[in-house]
Amino acid sequence: MKTTINQVYKHVGEEVTIGAWLANKRSSGKIAFLQLRDGTGFIQGVVVKSDVEEEIFDLAKKQLTQESSLYVTGIIVEDTRSPLGYEIQVNHIELIHEAVDYPITPKNHGTEFLMDHRHLWLRSKKQHAIMKIRNEIIRATYEFYNQQGFVKVDPPILTGASAEGTTELFHTKYFDEDAYLSQSGQLYMEAAAMAFGKVFSFGPTFRAEKSKTRRHLIEFWMIEPEMAFMEHEESLELQEQYVSYIVQAVLKNCKMELQALERDISKLENIKAPFPRITYDDALSFLKEQGFDDVEWGDDFGAPHETAIAESFDKPVFITHYPTKLKAFYMQPDSDNPDVVLCADLIAPEGYGEIIGGSQRIDDLELMEQRYKEHGLTGPAYEWYLELRKYGSVPHSGFGLGLERTVAWIAGIEHVRETIPFPRLLNRLYP
Ligand code: 4AD
Repeated sequence: MKTTINQVYKHVGEEVTIGAWLANKRSSGKIAFLQLRDGTGFIQGVVVKSDVEEEIFDLAKKQLTQESSLYVTGIIVEDTRSPLGYEIQVNHIELIHEAVDYPITPKNHGTEFLMDHRHLWLRSKKQHAIMKIRNEIIRATYEFYNQQGFVKVDPPILTGASAEGTTELFHTKYFDEDAYLSQSGQLYMEAAAMAFGKVFSFGPTFRAEKSKTRRHLIEFWMIEPEMAFMEHEESLELQEQYVSYIVQAVLKNCKMELQALERDISKLENIKAPFPRITYDDALSFLKEQGFDDVEWGDDFGAPHETAIAESFDKPVFITHYPTKLKAFYMQPDSDNPDVVLCADLIAPEGYGEIIGGSQRIDDLELMEQRYKEHGLTGPAYEWYLELRKYGSVPHSGFGLGLERTVAWIAGIEHVRETIPFPRLLNRLYP
């Protein structure tokens, strides 16, 4: 009977065949231990000399090379010492393809070497665990928004206008016109919210940012919900529920992966709504008290500032009401103080930085036209967005969660380059 590693628990005591690759092996005298992986998980295969034909034992002990592909047949038994809880007592091995000189050996390799071999590195236990957590966050995201009555809408990737300022745009030709790779689907999601009420998108996003930090990718994936008839505070409540939901989903469904990554799960278990909120002004006073003299009112916070603020909380923290001049053209000014906008950045704990940026959007046509002028946004590419304020404009809010930074935080990974299958970095387009 053919099965996969994640299904072996259904076959205890039975003989099964698994298509697998040899991740690693060791032997001690008359027993060979094979670390097998099949994409769904990792299992130990035990080959006992006295139980198999001589050529099978020789194959297992001597010939089999790392990453060779195999059909392994054997009996599934419980094994409380392994993370999976099962192992396979091998009766037979069929070699499908012999891998010669696999470059990533069990010894330590440098990051550049591993990044050059990303197409193979993805097979390793750690990378496998990170990608499974990424997948769980995506799965839980769809589940959460579907339960909340959102409609998934897909904004375009090729656009004629910039959503988040014009300095970080990837330019391309669109036949005779100029086009850009999407920096954010937000403007289109606002149109979609006026058509469907509550919408979300999940797609790739491109920023030609010359930033070389552990938090910046050139291409990253963003989840962007947009809600009609929803003001700032209600949007924050949705954000904290959503983030709590994905953290709890990973804790529930990725136990083995978190264990493989040695993630301290006590840091995740308390991630439940509500999350603390602090205004930009209060955050600035706090930073001054902490001795930061490199930031004044009107300056953006850098990574060290965000980390200092995050460290005083054990949950993600919203920094709200940033200065208007710091933020994007579409943010709704606070009616009590138009120098600040109804926005929030959500800062993850443990120094992982900003994972969400969001705001209430301007719904007044005149004010939006004024902002267009101030930001020099002219031309037909922007006209449709103004029309949303002409025909049945309503208060609305939305936000964008950066998937890779969220994976880095939940999985406890230092650098975002390991949280996306094929990272695009400042100096990396290969593989
Ligand atoms: O704060 P940002 O730029 O917000 C927007 O683009 C809004 N239009 C979203 C919206 O309201 N619909 O980006 C949102 C999030 C950040 O909090 C961060 O998690 C992630 O996207 N992000 C990046 N992740 C990796 N590499 C980069 N270069 C990133 N830039 C932003």
